[in-house]
Amino acid sequence: MKLPQLPNELTDFQPELGLILGSGLGFFADDRIEVVGRLPYGEIEGFPVSTVPGHAGQFVYGTLEGKRVICMQGRFHFYEGYQMSELTLPIRLMHHMGVHTLFVTNAAGGINRDYVPGDFMMLSDHINFLGTNPLIGWEGDEGVRFPDMSEVYNGALRSKIRAWAQAHDVDLKEGVYLATTGPSFETPAEIRAFAALGADAVGMSTVPEAIVARKFGMRVLGISCITNAAAGISKTELSHEEVSETADRVRPQFADLLAAGVKLA
Ligand code: 6GU
Repeated sequence: MKLPQLPNELTDFQPELGLILGSGLGFFADDRIEVVGRLPYGEIEGFPVSTVPGHAGQFVYGTLEGKRVICMQGRFHFYEGYQMSELTLPIRLMHHMGVHTLFVTNAAGGINRDYVPGDFMMLSDHINFLGTNPLIGWEGDEGVRFPDMSEVYNGALRSKIRAWAQAHDVDLKEGVYLATTGPSFETPAEIRAFAALGADAVGMSTVPEAIVARKFGMRVLGISCITNAAAGISKTELSHEEVSETADRVRPQFADLLAAGVKLA
């Protein structure tokens, strides 16, 4: 697949770090970044446009902690009907721009009984339960054809962030993220099955982007905001409203954690 043309202002800027801001986390770009420019997805030829309310749908680039970063304010989900190749196109573009480290954030349901809504979980690993792989059909592409996945989420960077969290009294969990397609949440039986498989949290994103980033040799770091307990663990019905409410409530702590991560990267 041919990559779309990007404006010179952006390619000249040469971002080093990429940030994918998940549900309710798009504010980070406006609050914490010294913005140099914005590029709405609609202005990029052949680029998918996000359909979920609360996902603005643009690249925001600028500096944070002295590093040149590019944020996706709004991301694409498989459940929106995009092809895997479409929803991971931003990662290919970031690689093309020179991005070597990718921070991926998301909202996730807690499976691990120690997790409560509002917790943050650094991804130690993932389980691809999407039933497909974003690298299918890209055999002509740059990067490794059969990429190793034994350490998707960079161990050295995780150690630094873990140490930062300890020093700052931040209760940062670390666990395995399992990705489903959504958009329905899981049944209690599915959650029991996922627990038996070793999953600590469940969500509808992140895994495609992380796999493509690893194909290109990027360092990847993933952080979930545990917005709710998963089905059967939660005493109440699950809803998108609960996900958004929790994400909104822990905004400042989330921003601090992400900014610290970027500083340490
Ligand atoms: Cl419980 N499941 C999935 N698949 N995604 C979620 C979630 C649950 N909570 C937030 N995102």
